[in-house]
Amino acid sequence: MDLVPAPSGENPVKTPMVEVEAVDVAEQLNAEAVALEEVASEFGSDSDDSDGDDALSEDGEIIQFMRDDQLQDVPGACTLEEAMAYRKRLHDIGKAAFVEETLVRETVTAKKLCTAFGIKLPEFLDGAPDEAYHPLLAIAISREFSRRPKLSQYNTIDDAVKLLQEAKNIIVLTGAGISTSLGIPDFRSKDTGLYSKLAHLGLSDPQEVFDIHIFREDPRIFFSIAKDILPTEKKYSPTHGFIKLLQDKGKLLTNYTQNIDNIEANAGVRAEKMVQCHGSFATATCVKCNFKVPGDAIFDDIREGKVPECSACVESIATLKPQGLKRKRSSTGNQKDRKEFEDSSDEDDYEIPTPGVMKPDITFFGEDLPDEFGQRLVHHDRELADLVIVIGTSLKVAPVAEVPGILPRNVPQIYISRTPVSHTDFDIDLLGDSDVVVSELCRRAGWNLEHHMIPADEKVDITPVEGYESRHVFKVVGA
Ligand code: OAD
Repeated sequence: MDLVPAPSGENPVKTPMVEVEAVDVAEQLNAEAVALEEVASEFGSDSDDSDGDDALSEDGEIIQFMRDDQLQDVPGACTLEEAMAYRKRLHDIGKAAFVEETLVRETVTAKKLCTAFGIKLPEFLDGAPDEAYHPLLAIAISREFSRRPKLSQYNTIDDAVKLLQEAKNIIVLTGAGISTSLGIPDFRSKDTGLYSKLAHLGLSDPQEVFDIHIFREDPRIFFSIAKDILPTEKKYSPTHGFIKLLQDKGKLLTNYTQNIDNIEANAGVRAEKMVQCHGSFATATCVKCNFKVPGDAIFDDIREGKVPECSACVESIATLKPQGLKRKRSSTGNQKDRKEFEDSSDEDDYEIPTPGVMKPDITFFGEDLPDEFGQRLVHHDRELADLVIVIGTSLKVAPVAEVPGILPRNVPQIYISRTPVSHTDFDIDLLGDSDVVVSELCRRAGWNLEHHMIPADEKVDITPVEGYESRHVFKVVGA
């Protein structure tokens, strides 16, 4: 079973880490893209509007998606209720019957239907005939149809609590949001996330700080910020404590974490219950000779913002000098003759070897995830999981973001985070600080989640989100 659609010939579980948008583009902009490009050029695409939620197109300019809460601002768009009904209908009857029932019978325009699937109507189509929206709609329908549909029987907090109580094999998928209460920034939160603070690096996209190609070109960029994400004290959040509690109750199948801070271990989550999908700082490897060291061997350098050098390379270079030095190629490409080498005292004539850089064993964009990720997920956990809980991640990075979609569709899925996501449909969304959400769930389940950051008399208010049967906001009362 493919973990994600991988280019032919590649091992599907060796999918390199990429942004979700890049995967979507490859998947969705196939045949329809050609048609859309034709439409765009016919109607003159000069839109540079880029405030959409997800910009999806070859260059991120033609197709933009909007969030559900933006629907109400678009004149003529579907209401949220209409949008949800169209999406459900599509999943119920399939693509062909859906198109027949809507476009062919002219019960709704293609333009309006695009909005049901979150397409932001492009300015270049203003005033165009309705058929001009067909290529966009085709993409939107395919995209929606490939999504796992929400299971209608799970909606309430009581449902969530019952699922927790009854599940025996829970997959917990975590991201940076579970560590922010410890003062560690996440990546994409506006104003507080790490990426919002990297303008000074002059990168075209702050994520390039974790791009393997950029690292190879200039590792100083990564090491200038690495100290900010280095694990420090042996602390853990109530959410880490919750994962440990699931382990203690024999309910934790696997915690797939994207976090590289290894804080789960501080909480007592056992190594065999964890997959560190994006690696960790626990070890580091020389990019030249593959010499491996414990991660803390380079922590001093990282804290000082220095690029750590490989000690094995340094040693072998020391033994090389001067006889082992290779002659530089002359401008004609020939090596200078031996005699000239011996006579010359000019160091510029020789290639001076440099030691390799020690790269922490965290997965950079463009690198493969550890083998264990795909192997365990596809060949073991997929069959066993009876509940999925996704906590504190924007699910913007593949292949981890694809995990909810590749699990059997009847396995219930709960999402816990400050911000909802619109590209994956969970059965129940529990919005708020994850520490507050999990502590309240435990309280209602009759479980004892002890942690010094959870006040003994904590009172949590839960309010439904208008328009959504299964979305609830958690807030500490009086906070
Ligand atoms: P993001 O920063 O993309 O997402 C964190 C999510 O957690 C956001 O939706 C926040 O709203 C939410 N959040 C923040 N604090 C929270 C809290 N206290 N309680 C609940 N939710 C909270 O981080 P990730 O999804 O983890 O790669 O990012 C995925 C990957 O992208 C990372 O592993 C990283 C990055 O590039 C590497 O480090 C290699």
